[in-house]
Order: sequence, then structure tokens, then C-alpha cells
Amino acid sequence: MTDQKNPLGLKKIHHVEFYVGNAKQAEFYYRKAFGFSRVAYRGLETGDREVTSYVLRQNRVNFILTTPLTPEHPAAEHIKQHGDGVRDIAFLVEDADHAFNEAVKRGATPVIEPRDWKDDNGNVRHAAIATYGDTIHSFISYNNNNGHNYSGPFLPGFTAQEVAGEEVGIQLVDHIVGNVELGKMNYWCDFYRDVMGFERYITFDDKDISTEYSALMSIVMSDGGHNIKFPINEPAEGKGGKSQIQEYIDFYRSAGAQHVALLCKDILHTVAKLQANGIEFLRVPDTYYDEIPARVGEIDESIEDLKRLGILVDRDDEGYLLQIFTKPVEDRPTVFYEILQRKGCKGFGKGNFKALFVSIEEEQRRRGNL
Ligand code: FE2
Repeated sequence: MTDQKNPLGLKKIHHVEFYVGNAKQAEFYYRKAFGFSRVAYRGLETGDREVTSYVLRQNRVNFILTTPLTPEHPAAEHIKQHGDGVRDIAFLVEDADHAFNEAVKRGATPVIEPRDWKDDNGNVRHAAIATYGDTIHSFISYNNNNGHNYSGPFLPGFTAQEVAGEEVGIQLVDHIVGNVELGKMNYWCDFYRDVMGFERYITFDDKDISTEYSALMSIVMSDGGHNIKFPINEPAEGKGGKSQIQEYIDFYRSAGAQHVALLCKDILHTVAKLQANGIEFLRVPDTYYDEIPARVGEIDESIEDLKRLGILVDRDDEGYLLQIFTKPVEDRPTVFYEILQRKGCKGFGKGNFKALFVSIEEEQRRRGNL
């Protein structure tokens, strides 16, 4: 892996914006159950006649939850089609104009031409391009030509509004997985390579993750600095029944973001808190834990603790990781979360795919979607 500079000047994920049916209630869920704090707001009271948005933050993770106030707003159509879901995976970039112009030159579809996004606290530059499904990538830069940075609480149009959550130790977005249609994985990997300047990080083929279970293929694309990792999944034919990726696409009604993986430093603590708060996780059969010593060797955590909480473990050449997956967080079987802790391991839990897919299949069967 080279540590090359990204040609678009991408620095990191600035925020993830979700279009949701009821931002007020979703905000309560993310604050009370996931331990985010509300930091900013826009809506009627701040002069916004189009949307209501809440900004939620936990350490370096920023989420925006947006609900349209009228049926004419494009978010209304997004929610009608997809249910609650990820609209925008927004990047902080060195120069939004450069990022946009370079991306479009390399073949991206423009969504928002570079513009000043401003309020009384100054301005940022903003532009956006399309990616899979109705998902977009915004480019945001603060270093505007008049030399002063934006000084507001979040982005222009937002007012500070602090409602503290009880944080659970979520630190950072580790990766965001995109589910794309059958036969489109290579197309979107080429998009991240050719347009975004990403490189192939890891490939999982059907030998790794199909077997007789819910099958998929996956390629992980990453920017040169490996700050941003986007696995791209497509459905594959399994012997067992409908791929979990196809189930997602059937209900999301297009390609879209499948899960956001949130990195933490002490997964035992974080998952215990999330469970106490009512977050529902997938569980694997108890026999999984009997096989851990042979499969991953020595680990710092007690296997009893992992079993009690339902945390999974996997190892690669460089170390191990601990991970767990929530059930979908909306009524359609679409978007869910992964909570993970890395102890040297740079992988994505390949050794857990088979055990996980047994429990995902069981969930699909109960939904009548296998
Ligand atoms: Fe993941």
C-alpha cells in the first residue's frame, strides 16, 4: 500500500447525512440509544422553511438527520423510495472547487455545482457529485479565498443547540459499506478508483463469503491514506436463498449505504452500554465461542464476556479485531451499524462472515425474505 496523496484532496469524512421520516424522533433514538449529543439544529425557528435537521456528534463522528417540511422537497421523494437512509457521505476536502472539477473531469455526475454556503458566521465552499443509487458525496472546504474560516457551530444555516447525550465511546467512522446491484460491483469499484483516486484495499470473493449461506461479493476501496474505506458489496447466488444484499436492494429500491461501521476503544464497555440502552444486535450461536481459541488464539478479552455480549472476533497477520452488528435500525431491512475495535487488524472480519450469515439468514427467514 502506498501512502499517496488523494487527487481530489479528500481529507476525511466530514459528516454523514440521513434523510429520515421524522428527524425529531430519530434524534431522540441516536441520542438516547447510541449516546450521541445534539450540537446543532436548523428548522423553522432558525428561518429554514424547507427542512428540519439535527446535528449529532460523538467524538469524531458527525451525523445530520434531515426531514423535509414539504412534499416538494427532494428529501420527500428519497424517503418515499428508500425509507430512512443515507443521502450524503460528505468529505472534508482541501478545496471543494478542485475536488468537484477534478471528479467531474474524471467522469463523476455533478449534483451541486461549487457554491458559497454562507450565513452570518462566514462561508464554506460546497459541491456534490453522485455515487451509487441516490447517494451523493458532498465536498466541503473551509479555506475560502477571503482568508477567514467559518466560525459557526457546524455548517452555515445551523444554530448551536446543545443537548448532551451519555456517550458510549464511539470514536470514528471506520468504514461505510455500499450495496450495489448484481453485476455492478466492478463498475462502482472502478468509479472509486478512476474518479475518486481510491485503490483496491481488500477483495472478498465468493469463496470467502458465499458457501451455502446468504451470498455476496465485496471489494474494499480506500483513499491513499486509508482514512476512508468503502467496501462495495454485490449480491451473489447462494445455495440457501436470496442474498442479504438483494434483500437490502429490494427494500431500499436501489443501491445504497448498507452499514456504517463505528470504531471504539473499549468494545466491551461500548456494547454493554448500547445493549442497556436498548440497541438490538445480531447474535451468533453459542458454539461460535467454543471455537475462538483454535481460530484466533490468544486475546486480551475474556471469551465469557464476549459471549455474554455477543461480540465477534477475527484475526489477520497484524492483529485482531472485535466487532458486532446491529439489526436494521428502521422498519425496512436496510441500514444497520457495526461497532468495532481494532487491535492491529486491518481487516473486516472475514472469519466471522459464515457465522454471521447463519444469523442474518435466520432474520431474513423470519421476515419472509429468504
Ligand atoms: Fe463492516
